Amino acid sequence: MKGIVLAGGSGTRMYPLTLATTKQLLAVYDKPMVYYPMSVLMLAGIRDILVISTPDGVPALRALFGDGSHLGLNVTYATQSAPRGIAEAYLIGADHVGTDDSALILGDNVFHGARFPTLLQETQAKIDGCTLFGYPVSDPGRYGIAEIDASGELISIEEKPLRPRSDNAITGLYLYSPDVVDIVRDLKPSARGELEITDVNQVYLAQGRARLIELGRGFSWIDAGTPESLLAASQYVQVLEHRQGVRVACLEEVALRMGFIDSEACYELGLKMKSSEYGRYVMDIARSLA
Ligand code: DAU
Repeated sequence: MKGIVLAGGSGTRMYPLTLATTKQLLAVYDKPMVYYPMSVLMLAGIRDILVISTPDGVPALRALFGDGSHLGLNVTYATQSAPRGIAEAYLIGADHVGTDDSALILGDNVFHGARFPTLLQETQAKIDGCTLFGYPVSDPGRYGIAEIDASGELISIEEKPLRPRSDNAITGLYLYSPDVVDIVRDLKPSARGELEITDVNQVYLAQGRARLIELGRGFSWIDAGTPESLLAASQYVQVLEHRQGVRVACLEEVALRMGFIDSEACYELGLKMKSSEYGRYVMDIARSLA
């Protein structure tokens, strides 16, 4: 399975925070925002990852992840010259996806929950069409919204509806069969001039090939794309990390636990950052799992 992190967009909702930097590099507590979606793909076992960003964002993200080999990954980059819609990721990433299933994740989405890695690994084994992840929210007008019937079947998907039919937001993690590229090629831009990911999902829904997995209350999902939600995400991660003594989305730890790197390599990565608590945590984890 191939992975795509979409980390572009103009970031205007975050001005002035994003006047001189890429939104996905802003801090969510102790690490760059993009670490969180990156960790999700890694926890799903995905190692071949395309990072898509703006002309300014690509060099900055490349400086952060390089070719990914230190994490046992193969990270490549592509530019989206203007924010022409989330679904454009599949025109830009068509060669990267090839004939494989793929996972697309938005670079500002933070997921955290018990058994998430297992859920991802189980889910990706049986993709036919699209698999979406739903999460209950108090402000459904801000998101893509899924409606399900009494038997749990997905019956409608709408983008930012004025009158939402449910509070089930569609999160920014999408799993697709290889034909997603053909579907996007046939897509027309919406009234706001974007290739909408919701339109892609509606094609699969019409074909009876769209599935929704509800993440439910025991789970946390934050779209960190506004100043308020960025702060909420930071506070969430801070409380969790301090209470539990573990780190969320520590890529070096994830790479080690997934068997992408060995403990020696992990220790070296920590050593380079030994002046920070994060770096010392990576060294401790490497020692404890040696
Ligand atoms: O976060 C989940 C929501 O993401 C879904 O519920 C919606 O269905 C989906 O449309 C999307 O809504 P947003 O309002 O958050 O979309 P936004 O335009 O803010 O784009 C989400 C991220 O994707 C953002 O970090 C920027 C990036 N992006 C967006 C567009 C349109 C790109 O990199 N390129 C783009 O062309």
